[in-house]
Amino acid sequence: MMIKVLMVCLGNICRSPLAAGILRDKFEKNGIDAQVDSAGTGNYHTGEGADPRSIDVATRNNIDIYSHAARQFRTTDFDDYDLIYAMDAANYQSILKLARNEADRKKVRMLMNEVLPNENMDIPDPYFGGKNGFDMVFDMIDKACDKITSRIIENQK
Ligand code: 4NP
Repeated sequence: MMIKVLMVCLGNICRSPLAAGILRDKFEKNGIDAQVDSAGTGNYHTGEGADPRSIDVATRNNIDIYSHAARQFRTTDFDDYDLIYAMDAANYQSILKLARNEADRKKVRMLMNEVLPNENMDIPDPYFGGKNGFDMVFDMIDKACDKITSRIIENQK
């Protein structure tokens, strides 16, 4: 059964393209049949590629996000995905505002709750910070994606 996952941040150029690339890589390496995409709650960067700093940290970790094109989160994403991961609490609230029913709401999670359940920890927006922010963001997302991957492997046994 194919699992469909959507990673969501604000601009869809820094955190969520990285998150989608990382999770896609882990799923591929583990033979998990999946569709992994990303979107932003904002529309400021629609059509743009990932931020060069995200491309840089991804490339250094052998993850290819060159073909990314930013798009805004839309209500039909609730129909098209099984799991919707918000990078921070503001993204989480923006997504929930578009939810039409309880089934929609149940699909939405905070990504870092995979690592620290119920803490609702943000993956900080690295856009206005320095280059180091992207390495920290990569490590946080990587840990969360490890958890998602290992749970799916466990559930498939
Ligand atoms: P992201 O980072 O949400 O991780 O893609 C941002 C990128 C751009 C902006 C904000 C956050 N912006 O305001 O343009």
